[in-house]
Amino acid sequence: MKDSEFISTFNASNIQNSSGRVAWQSPSNLAIVKYWGKYGQQLPRNPSISITLSEAFTQTSVEFFVDKYRSKLELEFYFEGKENESFKGRITKYLEGIESYFSFIPYSKLIINSDNSFPHSSGIASSASSMSALALCLCEIENNLENDKNGNEEFFLRKASYISRLGSGSACRSVYPYFASWGKIGNEDSSNLYASPVAEFHDVFKTLRNDILIVSAEEKSVSSTKGHQLMEENPYAKTRFEQANNRVFELKSILKEGNLSAFGEMLESEALTLHALMMASDPSYLLIEPKTIKVINEIRSFRKNENIPVFFSLDAGPNVHIISFEKDRAAIEGLIENLREFAIGGKILNDSIGFGAKKIE
Ligand code: PMV
Repeated sequence: MKDSEFISTFNASNIQNSSGRVAWQSPSNLAIVKYWGKYGQQLPRNPSISITLSEAFTQTSVEFFVDKYRSKLELEFYFEGKENESFKGRITKYLEGIESYFSFIPYSKLIINSDNSFPHSSGIASSASSMSALALCLCEIENNLENDKNGNEEFFLRKASYISRLGSGSACRSVYPYFASWGKIGNEDSSNLYASPVAEFHDVFKTLRNDILIVSAEEKSVSSTKGHQLMEENPYAKTRFEQANNRVFELKSILKEGNLSAFGEMLESEALTLHALMMASDPSYLLIEPKTIKVINEIRSFRKNENIPVFFSLDAGPNVHIISFEKDRAAIEGLIENLREFAIGGKILNDSIGFGAKKIE
């Protein structure tokens, strides 16, 4: 599919005073093969595959008032119940940038309410869940106004993924359950424009748990936009992009086979590779902290000693995602409790693999 398939062909100036309310819940996601490096309009330099989370999500509702006599978007934006001018500014720019995909936008007054299930400033990135929740709401408003234009579920989610990507690259993977891939993979039917669900994986992965250990809740010292940009001059970029291309193929087989040790090896290597790339960029960024390393070492020695598949992953920050499987829940309880001392305020967020985005009331 091309960009043009998502462009609105509807003449919104025909609409007379249409109004309503839509609401969606969309989760955060954790990449196994990481997306790091982008070009053009949030297009990835390499394909990625992520785990859709369950408990870390955003709930967004949009009240819409469309009137053909209105000439400009009017927006109210509430985050956690309070009007938020800074988010409003960013979202206004985003919405104005996607008017060609939703012709109703310039004729609309939108009242957006957004809440995260996880504490703000908990160090968990909210852009994937928030941008995908908003994109899903916009696609549904379009359906309401245009008699189910995106009625076909596959197209609906694909457009939502495409629109999410324009807000935050990794957000495009959040709309799908379990695992999602984004980016052109060899000759496969895949695209840089939107994500797709990973169709085949072993049942053991439906029991994947992710306990998120908050090492620091501080704002990242480098934005992901800057980090992606730095890949353009990174001396290891070419090798990295080749590696990621090979890894998405390998990971798909690993997921099918249910090979947990190969899964963990790739998960950990990808996390460390992401940070190695940041350390090797100019300027260089060191986003892990001493506590991050201590936790990683504890997880690795526990795994070796106990022979239990428990692994770590990292995003572009110091917090550690402890990945394990339901069958080992009791066996790793002690480990999680021991690691709590490294978490701010003893905070560990218990999450697991999830079912993707859903419509809410
Ligand atoms: O979606 P962005 O631009 O915030 O980039 C996210 C990049 C990583 O989280 C580090 C990796 C990924 O694939 O999600």
